[in-house]
Amino acid sequence: MSTIAQPTQRSGVMPMMKRLSPRDISARKGGEPVVCITAYTAPMARFMDPHVDLLLVGDTLGMVVYGMETTLGVTLEMSIAHGLAVMRGSQKACVIVDMPFGSYQGSPTDAFNACARVMKETGCAGVKLEGGREMAETIRFLTQRGIPVMAHVGLLPQSVNTVGGFRVQGRSKEGARAIVADAKAVTAAGAFSVVVEGVVESLARTITKAVSVPTIGIGASVACDGQVIVGEDMLGMFGGFTPKFVKRYAEVGTIVSDAVGAYAADVRARRFPGPEHVYGALENKNGAKRASKKSLKKK
Ligand code: KIV
Repeated sequence: MSTIAQPTQRSGVMPMMKRLSPRDISARKGGEPVVCITAYTAPMARFMDPHVDLLLVGDTLGMVVYGMETTLGVTLEMSIAHGLAVMRGSQKACVIVDMPFGSYQGSPTDAFNACARVMKETGCAGVKLEGGREMAETIRFLTQRGIPVMAHVGLLPQSVNTVGGFRVQGRSKEGARAIVADAKAVTAAGAFSVVVEGVVESLARTITKAVSVPTIGIGASVACDGQVIVGEDMLGMFGGFTPKFVKRYAEVGTIVSDAVGAYAADVRARRFPGPEHVYGALENKNGAKRASKKSLKKK
């Protein structure tokens, strides 16, 4: 799927691979499912990049990396620092940075300034922001000015305080109609894809049929055009509560705990460092000791 970049770039810098773009993602509507996962650091991005279409620097960052209770405390500076790390760690995936709470809701101009800063300082391909009809004007303002936007409807974690918790959305007819209207509005405003979070399968199916861009589901069933998952959730690294919609593909947290436990036992028993981890010493002409080249190489 990745193509080699053409040597026509004005910058003269020749990237190894051309990244997937928001347009490439948009073109996948109804085709091969879009694979998306959250990433917040360069090493994780490096492991994930070969396998996915889209790396989302989600504002779940606040909970997963910084131990916050909600996503509301994430700042623009945090999103930029982690967005840059994910860009450095990846070469193929389309990288999208989630706009933190308070950085885009005030006005379309505020949103433009914050999003432009994120794109300039990270080099990411676009941004994600939460909200339906109430954000359509802002999404139109941004997309008309060169900022690709991934929209996000259904369960909106940044609205946890007004909604009163993290609840499955659209279970009533009225609620379902409102979310369909949200998805249509953000698509008409120019969003290149729409995250659909925490809705029942029938509603996810209806939304996916109703909009012309890919729906990316999280807790929204296989009826969507693609899926996104929080990396640390599926890897068993988050520790706390695992929502019903998460499939655990590994227990990395257990591996880390076991490895650190083994290290601690070795240190306490003076088994680590062993002879193979210790630099040798040679005497130079003056009698002073120095590490041999060979032992340095061996590390
Ligand atoms: O912040 C995030 O990780 C997200 C996904 C859950 C879609 O918004």
